[in-house]
Amino acid sequence: MPEPILMDKIVSLCKRRGFIFQSSEIYGGLGSVWDYGPLGAELKRNVKNLWWKSVVHERMDMVGLDCAILMLPQVWKASGHVDGFSDPLVDCKECKKRFRLDNLIDTKEEHVKECSSCGAKIDLKISAPRMFNLMMKTFLGAVEDESAVTYMRPETAQGIFVNFLNVLDTTRKKLPFGVAQIGKSFRNEITPGNFTFRTREFEQMEIEYFVRPEEDEKWYEFWTQERFNWYLRYGIKKENLRIRAHAKDELAHYAKACSDIEYNFPFGWSELEGIANRSDFDLKQHEQFSGKEMVYFDSVENKKIRPYIIEPSGGVDRATLAFLVDAYHEEKVKEETRVVLRFSPELAPIKAAILPLLKNRPQIVEMAKGIAQSLMKDIRVVYDDTAAIGKLYRRQDEVGTLYCVTVDVQSLEDKKVTVRDRDTMLQDRIDVDMLQKYLVEKLA
Ligand code: GAP
Repeated sequence: MPEPILMDKIVSLCKRRGFIFQSSEIYGGLGSVWDYGPLGAELKRNVKNLWWKSVVHERMDMVGLDCAILMLPQVWKASGHVDGFSDPLVDCKECKKRFRLDNLIDTKEEHVKECSSCGAKIDLKISAPRMFNLMMKTFLGAVEDESAVTYMRPETAQGIFVNFLNVLDTTRKKLPFGVAQIGKSFRNEITPGNFTFRTREFEQMEIEYFVRPEEDEKWYEFWTQERFNWYLRYGIKKENLRIRAHAKDELAHYAKACSDIEYNFPFGWSELEGIANRSDFDLKQHEQFSGKEMVYFDSVENKKIRPYIIEPSGGVDRATLAFLVDAYHEEKVKEETRVVLRFSPELAPIKAAILPLLKNRPQIVEMAKGIAQSLMKDIRVVYDDTAAIGKLYRRQDEVGTLYCVTVDVQSLEDKKVTVRDRDTMLQDRIDVDMLQKYLVEKLA
């Protein structure tokens, strides 16, 4: 399928079936801000829960935090964001659009670029790039002057750094150890786009892993592989995932090394997550700006150590989009095209749909609702009787539901139901009493 068409199909499915809607849509839509609908909210929650489980619950060297979005402006001065978190922007005099410098097209002359919208030549000597800070500003308190300015955080990482001493004091963790956090971040992106890939409000899932300085490279390699494997574990196809090490001139001001985990989106290979070796940059900066000594005391060697930090930093929205794209399949079934989202069992927003074959037979409806009610405490199930069975199957395939459980006339007699598998479309006839066990085993 041509790739722009695939992306259009996914965007349209997301709206049609309630995964993702544009923010403030009834007023015309707020650019590059998105709302997750009933199914998108489930999918995104599954992504976050699987991440949290694998990096916090299943590891003895990790703890979690949930920090505030608002922080003192000094934090962002120390981190380098107030002075340095900027993109170079250029205006096209012809079409009047504004571009990030790296989004313009190169020409043979170094100082001349081509507008990627109207094709006009832009001479950088005349229209010199201007730096534009990506931080979103707001005011705290009753007076809206410079002294009341603060920022919506552009990354969750700083909340972890400024709590380094609190975590050490309360958990008594020994090096190496890490702190994980999931939360919203905000950036006034000037050239956002590609659906939920680059947005102005988004969620991050970040780890700051504190290590002895001499062990930084070992842990950098470890986390790069670990995070790469996480995406594979939950269904991303290996051929669609790669690791790309940054060249020296690409590195952020704080990074000693960085690798991106990239996904082959319909719009090209793009970053899902970055793994950076931040050295002791952040702890040093906060020590200097706060006056607090940001060190770890090694009681064995009886000395202070300022740890290095390895940071695997991923986007929840990007991971969710990659899982959606990778799950999307179209296949011919007889004369029809079946659209199916082949989510892994852990990610599927709905595990089973309970469907009455005939919605005008009260006993069948009652039995189906009773089954749904009894399962919903343990398994994410839904009940649906809003269409004929063929249409209900197609709808559930399209949102990735793993099993469809149909209650028919015969079920009233033999207390058995038909369970249809999303991927094989094969059907099993199962005793109602055994249904819960059957589904739990299948989902394990
Ligand atoms: N603390 C390091 C940091 O924030 P980053 O590369 O700027 O590094 C990390 O962001 C991740 O956050 C990215 O890999 C991406 O998944 C996600 N992300 C960053 N900007 C985003 C945006 N505008 N929209 C959606 N996700 C974004």
